[in-house]
Amino acid sequence: MKGVILAGGTGSRLHPLTRITNKHLLPIYDRPMINYAIEALVSAGIVEIMLVTGGTHAGEFLRLLGNGHEFGIERLSYAYQEKAGGIAEALRLAERFVADERCVVLLADNVFERSIKPCVEAFGKQKLGARVVLSKETDQVHLRNLGVAQFDGNRRIERIVEKPEKPPSEYAVTGIYFYDDQVWRALPVLEPSGRGELEITDVNNWYLAKGLMEYDVLDGFWGDAGESIDAYYAVNDFVRAHGSNKGS
Ligand code: DAU
Repeated sequence: MKGVILAGGTGSRLHPLTRITNKHLLPIYDRPMINYAIEALVSAGIVEIMLVTGGTHAGEFLRLLGNGHEFGIERLSYAYQEKAGGIAEALRLAERFVADERCVVLLADNVFERSIKPCVEAFGKQKLGARVVLSKETDQVHLRNLGVAQFDGNRRIERIVEKPEKPPSEYAVTGIYFYDDQVWRALPVLEPSGRGELEITDVNNWYLAKGLMEYDVLDGFWGDAGESIDAYYAVNDFVRAHGSNKGS
């Protein structure tokens, strides 16, 4: 299984901090944000990774990460996203890198308390399709800024609603996604959303419509450090007090 870390975008919700650097180079406690995503994948056994980034600070990732060996990565590739056209657009750049394998996609602003290894192993056992990872979230305001799962009577996900006015459940979709090779057929048929981006939620709904989506529910803390300046500091505070990617 290959890993794809998405670290492009404009980081506009963290302006003005992100006018002078890429969001994923900002510190979370004692390390740049991107380090947590790398640790999450490597400690789960994913050692062939593509980092997709963009903007004027892309070169800093090379300076920080080099060939990745210091971080336990065996093969680190880079791709450059010309403009922030959305998470699904960024993922398209990884098609040749992933080739005929399956992939785990991680948004580089997501930080997890516990190891993602159990999810990687669960997808390893899944025969085909995709897998998302949910986190229980009771704060309605928070849910309105995320993708939220809608369930049927059998607790299967029916669809995912991106940034819902009225959240259909208390289960947010975190920024870790697993895909088989059908994803390369889903991506080219996407249409830009209202915010002008190719949405990862549309990819997930493509799989859901085919009945090819499984899910896990996370234990422990999960934070999206790019959601707002308060979320950024909440993630910092949590990691400083309790650590991250534990138990792998
Ligand atoms: O964090 C989880 C949430 O991430 C999910 O609940 C949502 O369903 C999903 O759409 C996403 O929502 P955000 O609004 O938080 O996505 P954002 O635009 O902040 O992008 C997340 C990461 O994706 C960002 O840290 C870098 C990467 N990205 C984003 C864009 C727009 C790229 O690499 N390229 C891009 O063009």
